Amino acid sequence: MRRPIVIGNWKMNGDSVSIRDLLGGLTSQWSGVHQAEVAVCAPYPYLGLCADQLENTNIGLGAQDLSVQSSGAYTGEVAGQMLTDVGCGYVLVGHSERREYHAESSELVANKFQAALDAGLIPVLCVGETLEEREAEKTYDVVGKQLLAVVEHCGLAGVAKGIVAYEPVWAIGTGKTATPEMAQDVHSYIREVLGPEGDQVRILYGGSVKPETAEGLFSQKDIDGALVGGASLQAGDFVAICRAAE
Ligand code: PGA
Repeated sequence: MRRPIVIGNWKMNGDSVSIRDLLGGLTSQWSGVHQAEVAVCAPYPYLGLCADQLENTNIGLGAQDLSVQSSGAYTGEVAGQMLTDVGCGYVLVGHSERREYHAESSELVANKFQAALDAGLIPVLCVGETLEEREAEKTYDVVGKQLLAVVEHCGLAGVAKGIVAYEPVWAIGTGKTATPEMAQDVHSYIREVLGPEGDQVRILYGGSVKPETAEGLFSQKDIDGALVGGASLQAGDFVAICRAAE
């Protein structure tokens, strides 16, 4: 049995006032015991604030990136151990916005995945194709390569300690969601690539997930939850998506 999980990715949004407010909404609407696991990935400067406000709640905390290095002269970088130290349990690696705007290669992403495991964090590996790649029928090829780079570096057993998020780039922040069937096809392919470990790995869908589309996606057998960007900035919408995962 894979426990469903919904993770919010706030990206570079919010300030201390709006984040306190959002956390207040989330903690009041998601109290008690739930079948689904829930976490939010906040911008670095607010992790401490979030850790305080999420203490003794059932909402976990994550960061959106980490360094491959564990300490030293790496100006501007943040080590996995620092994230654990301030209360994070999760970290995104290889989000398409990092791959695209920061030229992160699959090799670098694989190193980050391992750095996260070494720091005791649960890495959430993001993979997904662009529109051009989908139209050229390269979806499996692209997603397979992104995944195998991490498998080669960390082993299947290493990947199985993390979470995979399938996020078609053309669906991120565009309002275009993959249909449940389109997402299911790629999810089942990812599970196949992960071989014997595949059954236990949670695979999330991400890309314009909204309360209205969540139910259909979660009804697919290989979709174990969601990575939610825009809709995670509204407590009501995010909690509605979390409820749909139960
Ligand atoms: P979105 O973002 O839900 O706003 O499309 C998803 C993501 O980038 O993780």
